[in-house]
Amino acid sequence: MIYGILRYPHPNSRYYESTRTLLSNEFQILMNGTGETYEMIGYKTIGGVELFCFSLDAPLKDQTRKILHRISSLHILFEIEDGLRLLPLNEDRSSYFKDDMASILKYSGKTNEEFTAMMINLGVFSSSFADKYDTPLTVFDPMCGRGTTLYKSLIMGYNASGIDIDKNDVSEINQYMKRYLKYHMYKHEAEHQTINMFGEHKGTKYTITTADTKENYKAKDVRVIQFAQGDTRESNCFFRKEQFHIFVTDLPYGVQHSTVSTTKFVDILELLKSSAREWHLLLKKGGAGVIAYNTHHIGRTVISEVFKNAGFEVLEHSPYNEFEHWVEQAVNRDLLIVRK
Ligand SMILES: C[S@@+](CC[C@H](N)C(=O)[O-])C[C@H]1O[C@@H](n2cnc3c(N)ncnc32)[C@H](O)[C@@H]1O
Repeated sequence: MIYGILRYPHPNSRYYESTRTLLSNEFQILMNGTGETYEMIGYKTIGGVELFCFSLDAPLKDQTRKILHRISSLHILFEIEDGLRLLPLNEDRSSYFKDDMASILKYSGKTNEEFTAMMINLGVFSSSFADKYDTPLTVFDPMCGRGTTLYKSLIMGYNASGIDIDKNDVSEINQYMKRYLKYHMYKHEAEHQTINMFGEHKGTKYTITTADTKENYKAKDVRVIQFAQGDTRESNCFFRKEQFHIFVTDLPYGVQHSTVSTTKFVDILELLKSSAREWHLLLKKGGAGVIAYNTHHIGRTVISEVFKNAGFEVLEHSPYNEFEHWVEQAVNRDLLIVRK
């Protein structure tokens, strides 16, 4: 049986071009997580439509279709009959919250939403929790900015936690989440706490508990989003050890996206050296981390060493080492995928 994936026509044409390779790599990591045997055929043009094609010995299982529907740049999944007839298989594609939760906020320095979804998928399917991908795992973004990872995690049905040093960013997440949930009439409860340690003020942590339906909220089948204003080098002051199944982050690019000085002069190497160990402590055993970095700013060998020294295993074989792509003149992005 032959199947084809039509890529989502991303409005950023350079990113759309990059998804040719990104999709094929994400596909392999998700499929490897299913344990299903497949053969990649690659890109083929059928009736003028370019599809990423693969074959399976047996008809696609419902479970595998559900996993493929998660691929971040998948627009339509087709079964291909007789090499030319396309049968769409997008039925029962669903999400926990609506997609607009991540797309409403627009700001400079925002991480592309589809790319963020890909990082979450890569983390989940590279971890020992791949078989629990449709249960409420907990995702951590140790430099969460204004929260793209948090919203994308909730949309996928996961719990989400984040920390950022920028007060304005964290305050924006708090206001936006409350506004969004109220507007859509999602039941929720919000609280915050001041974090002090050894008599020193570390920051503020916000917690919002909500659910996709009133019934689920009442039955306490809820999702929790937590976000803290604080320094990622002190993440352990804010969150419990071995709490997170995966972590996902888009490192500061060394490009000034805001007028806030904290994003302006970040020495990435120093920051990572003092953070990677903190992130390791917060991750469950078998958990995975996905780190996006600017190759103009830090080299792959150097960043790999930092994570190895912090106790992580770095996944170095193909396709884990094939995510490099151009973003803008000053940013050439790559991913490091690590496991605890
Ligand atoms: C590329 S941005 C992340 C953008 C985010 N993914 C989003 O879509 O909003 C990197 C973030 O790292 C944060 N950052 C830099 N140094 C930090 C530190 N020491 N602790 C916590 N966050 C830090 C910056 O404030 C910035 O928001």
